[in-house]
Amino acid sequence: MRHLINITDFSVDEINELIDIANDIIDNPKDYMDICHGKILATLFFEPSTRTRLSFTSAMMSLGGQVLGFAEAASSSAAKGESVSDTVRTVGCYSDIIAMRHPKEGAPLIASERTTVPIINAGDGGHFHPTQTLTDLLTISREKGRLDNMTIGLCGDLCFGRTVHSLIEAMLRYDNIKFVLISPHELRLPKYMRETIEAAGAQWKEVERMEDVMEELDILYMTRVQRERFFNEEDYVRLKDTYILDLDKLEKAKEDLAILHPLPRVNEIAVEVDDDPRAKYFDQVLCGRYIRMALILRLLGIK
Ligand code: NCD
Repeated sequence: MRHLINITDFSVDEINELIDIANDIIDNPKDYMDICHGKILATLFFEPSTRTRLSFTSAMMSLGGQVLGFAEAASSSAAKGESVSDTVRTVGCYSDIIAMRHPKEGAPLIASERTTVPIINAGDGGHFHPTQTLTDLLTISREKGRLDNMTIGLCGDLCFGRTVHSLIEAMLRYDNIKFVLISPHELRLPKYMRETIEAAGAQWKEVERMEDVMEELDILYMTRVQRERFFNEEDYVRLKDTYILDLDKLEKAKEDLAILHPLPRVNEIAVEVDDDPRAKYFDQVLCGRYIRMALILRLLGIK
């Protein structure tokens, strides 16, 4: 039985295969509409979500399967003190596959040790978010026609932003990727992630101003300052508007830059950017649905 806890649980070949399946689904959706008939996905969300939970739901429904679950810890037996392992063993009796999000780093890994059905990590604390990364990879490959040979700027809360951590781990396995880490010092990429980049021998640099590097970038990956992971509100308020991408800041950017954001956005991309052809974050949302369809098929052993 396979799980997806960390993006590196899947080889590059397996990820490329998922991207191929997702592209085939986009081209031939009718071929897939009943393929999961009789299967049930459980979505266990101990933390808020719009896109991830609903895209999993939409993905399973688009495959002809059914979905059950909860959207907040308060409405589950976690509120009574049940362990994640017990919840997951229970839900495994009602479903064929589980997508779970949890505020504690490592919770999906623990869940995967006791489960009877495949577990998908839909975000664990400030740690990892592998299905957002699959979404990002599908988007980048559709926009650029490749996943190697590019400079990717990651901007915002690189400390607590789990999407950034998983995306870096994934991109490190492709050739000639340069990382430009754009953040205030307090929100810089955690040491264990900087060491991971070093160990892989990739090129990288850290800067504080996005204007200084804009013209180098093929991808600009914006992120939200992760309020819920701060220890005090004062720090959040001081740092939350460090970066606001607007049309002025894009002046020197490449014409074929792709601007991505896992969303939700708070203030970090001005709404005026949405009409710029380089804004790809809503295309990215759609990719999230198709790649999750591909992932469900793969983990259920159907494809
Ligand atoms: C991200 C997350 O939950 O980490 N959202 C998402 O899943 N698309 C990013 C965020 O919340 O800032």
